[in-house]
Amino acid sequence: MIILGIESSCDETAAAVVRDGWEVLSSEVASQISIHEEFGGVVPEIAARAHLQNIEPVVKLALTKADMQIADVDAIAVTQGPGLIGALLVGVSYAKGLALGTNKPLIPVDHVHAHIYGALLDTKYKHSEIFPSIGLVASGGHTNLYFMNSPTEFELIAWSDDDACGECFDKVAKLMGFSYPGGPAIEKMAKQASDPDAYPMPTPVEQKNKLRFSYSGLKTHMSINIKKANAVDDENKKANLCSAFQDAALGQLVRKIAVAAEKYPRANSLLIAGGVAANQRFRDLLSTHVKLKPIFPKLPYCSDNAAMIAGFGSALFQNHQDYKAPFSWDAYSRYDYGAVLAKANTP
Ligand code: KG4
Ligand code: ZN
Repeated sequence: MIILGIESSCDETAAAVVRDGWEVLSSEVASQISIHEEFGGVVPEIAARAHLQNIEPVVKLALTKADMQIADVDAIAVTQGPGLIGALLVGVSYAKGLALGTNKPLIPVDHVHAHIYGALLDTKYKHSEIFPSIGLVASGGHTNLYFMNSPTEFELIAWSDDDACGECFDKVAKLMGFSYPGGPAIEKMAKQASDPDAYPMPTPVEQKNKLRFSYSGLKTHMSINIKKANAVDDENKKANLCSAFQDAALGQLVRKIAVAAEKYPRANSLLIAGGVAANQRFRDLLSTHVKLKPIFPKLPYCSDNAAMIAGFGSALFQNHQDYKAPFSWDAYSRYDYGAVLAKANTP
């Protein structure tokens, strides 16, 4: 089965072709980082306009690199939400037009759920070896922990009460004077630390058994301490602060995953996904502190990409083949997310 995936939820216009749910034949990403860098974050309208320019060439390139034509594709999968609504509408409208024009099924995909699928791409694991599983999505918009019986069944067991983990990396990086996105810059700087214990950090959501995340306290702590230490112009202090912050931010994820592993002993594995999954320190900490076998995405499938949309789309398509026109569904932003989930859970 050949699925074309399309992603436009934030600042990456992406298209990919995936065979049989796991084999990535092509994965093209047009990143807008250089456009948004000067604003210190993603500007929604600029993102939507850039998607409009990029979508057609990116889809064409993905098909060409996979040595396919649109006629070879069995179905099209597109990110429906959550994300920036103007950005999503570009991908969704394009995909609806393409599916109608070529008479192909169109599979609407939840971006956050699809992230988990990133860990399964280009691997030959049988689903029976992996599931049930505990899945973490740690990205710029979400810090969600799931218990999953299969690649398409998600029980949300923990989420952030405030900022997402990646968002906290970005905001702290901005305070330090680094450009967007902040996660990779903080990781790089932390490697230069001469004294990683120089700055004690608070332990958010300390209650051991509570399965929830919180990052705003850590962000406030960092904002006070960066000023107090006068760190912005001092590379050594900056490196020590980055290292302490990184361990506190990642430590929270590791602690809560360890609690989830105790609470859900049926889980066979741990699927880690989202931009933060690219962090090598996180990978090391998880492998040392959590007994469950962690499965990490290859680096190109941590941050936003369309291969995860195509892969997850093909898992959905296998379950229900009924994704035909008219496509009466719409895109949803992160603010509609609660309502969309409530509707989906209503029998
Ligand atoms: O999954 P993603 O590309 O986009 C969203 O769906 O949000 O995640 C982007 C987030 C950003 O907040 C970025 O700073 C963070 O992932 N990130 C990292 C690293 N690489 C990206 N955070 C920590 N360490 C990294 N190496
Ligand atoms: Zn994402």
